[in-house]
Amino acid sequence: RHDAEFPIARPRRLRRGPALRRLVAQTRVLPENLILPLFVKEGLTEPVAISSMPGQVQHTRESLRKAAREAVEAGVGGLMLFGIPEHKDGVGSQADDPDGVVQVALRELSAEVGDDIVVMADLCLCEYTDHGHCGPLEESGHVDNDLTLERYASVAVAQAEAGAAVVAPSGMMDGQVGAIRAALDRAGFPHVPILAYAAKYASVFYGPFREAAEGAPQFGDRSGYQQDPANVRESLREVALDVAEGADMVMVKPGLAYLDVVAKVAESSPVPVSAYQVSGEYAMIEAAAEKGWLDRERAILETLTSYRRAGAEQILTYWATEAARLLR
Ligand code: PBG
Ligand code: ZN
Repeated sequence: RHDAEFPIARPRRLRRGPALRRLVAQTRVLPENLILPLFVKEGLTEPVAISSMPGQVQHTRESLRKAAREAVEAGVGGLMLFGIPEHKDGVGSQADDPDGVVQVALRELSAEVGDDIVVMADLCLCEYTDHGHCGPLEESGHVDNDLTLERYASVAVAQAEAGAAVVAPSGMMDGQVGAIRAALDRAGFPHVPILAYAAKYASVFYGPFREAAEGAPQFGDRSGYQQDPANVRESLREVALDVAEGADMVMVKPGLAYLDVVAKVAESSPVPVSAYQVSGEYAMIEAAAEKGWLDRERAILETLTSYRRAGAEQILTYWATEAARLLR
């Protein structure tokens, strides 16, 4: 130990001071890789705070446009729109109504910021059905897969007609990407890409989102269509199926508790890989920061860095605008 040569390897050399650390940093988060999810609710006159997601709101058409402009100014790469309709029914009729809440918002946003940011639409029915499941039900109470595919195909066309630059099916029905691809192609939208929620787990971390989007299942849960957290091989299969059906990008969701899945998918995916920092991850960090238990901004940047390090190229995060500003 008194030998001058010991230790030979001194990794601390490259940690000595911020300039050296910056020089050798392997992973960087860029504002243009961030995607901001936004909620727009029909019939609102004022934005409504989401109590389990401090700082996030259900937007009016007006406040939505303002949030979109702020995201553009911060350099955020994309928006992901979720709509909350005034009227719900068994099949989610409002989801593909040309005057439905998301279609109206898509027309406004694509006209206003569509050249500066990628305006995407989440494609599902749980916000639109009165039972809160992601598609129409069979007699048995299970979601009717193939009937749901017909609904998704119609929603995709309505969203593309309203100006969606990307559609993002999140319902985890078998064959959804293929059904949507065929419908878009037939309707004159062969150029509209599909971002597939390919590996989506039945997760407790969606809790706050269900308040935000008012889409909680009224009975049962989503384990009959979303994946079991115990499985990883299944995610590779879901990704392969979605790519074969025409997915242009694939997503893993949630992110933080599933970074092993992100890393595995990123290793073999032939298409760009996104990951979703979901509502429960947002809520955990906001709550701990509010109590003074951890440094909020550092927690945001560290988790986003972890996503990139695992191999996600796009990150959906409710902090997108704020993080983009911090990163500049
Ligand atoms: C709906 C959908 C959910 C999320 C995105 N799309 C909820 C769910 O599947 O129950 C979760 C997003 C979040 O928690 O931030 N299909
Ligand atoms: Zn859904």
